[in-house]
Amino acid sequence: MARQARAESRIIGLVPTMGALHEGHASLIARAKRECSPLIASIFVNPKQFGPDEDFAKYPRTFESDSEKLRQAGVDTLFAPEAAEIYPKDFSTYVHVEGLSERLEGRSRPGHFRGVTTVVMKLLQIVQPHRAYFGRKDAQQARLITQMARDLNLDSEIVVCPIVREPDRLALSSRNVYLNPEQRKAATILYRALEAAKKELEAGGRDALHLQTSLRRKLDSEPLAAVDYAEVVDAETFEPVVRVSRACYVLLAVFIGKTRLIDNLYLEPKAPESDEFMFHL
Ligand code: PAF
Repeated sequence: MARQARAESRIIGLVPTMGALHEGHASLIARAKRECSPLIASIFVNPKQFGPDEDFAKYPRTFESDSEKLRQAGVDTLFAPEAAEIYPKDFSTYVHVEGLSERLEGRSRPGHFRGVTTVVMKLLQIVQPHRAYFGRKDAQQARLITQMARDLNLDSEIVVCPIVREPDRLALSSRNVYLNPEQRKAATILYRALEAAKKELEAGGRDALHLQTSLRRKLDSEPLAAVDYAEVVDAETFEPVVRVSRACYVLLAVFIGKTRLIDNLYLEPKAPESDEFMFHL
């Protein structure tokens, strides 16, 4: 299919997912649908990106409703392989992006990114899309995949799309279903902390340590929240910055009960070398 579509100069789009589809996925599909034909979506709960103590077994699996949503959204082909197809018994090749994979999410979830880059590489090889779409909520994942595509000369453009939020501004995530009503309310602390950081930046605050201290204070004000990290990092390297003077992410990973949530604020200079920023929250 990919070979024929490429021969006919059509733009093949891929939206890789692990199912449990929500409005965040819907926005990726809608954008990909506008830009590509044919549009392929994949559903594969990738065992290799879950640590031994993580939620692989209980990860929400809603295949019937997911496939119906994809059909209604105009997806042309759904690719939903079995684990044995992706990882046959003798499977032994992995893709690892050095450095970037070890920081932040990588430090908290050893092996996670190796699983992500390996499966995404495989999906890109199988589907051969011109464009593949990822959400910016998983900012480090999106950055790693972009790096991998560049380093390995992949013939797929990696498109990173904005975060989609609930009406109370909680970032959409398949893991939000784990939250009980009290935790669900508490989870809005991530957005509120990022919004406070945005205000500090809008008022001219550029000191990363000060921003991090304010973030921590805000997050710690929520009794149900346990902070894993709250950092200001360079948007390319994901290394901590001292001063905000270029494209950066303010990144949060916070446990609400046993559920680990991530969220971020992306700062983009209004012009090269400018100290004024556009905020993507
Ligand atoms: O973001 C996700 O849902 C997954 O990490 C991905 C990119 C589909 C790879 O399994």
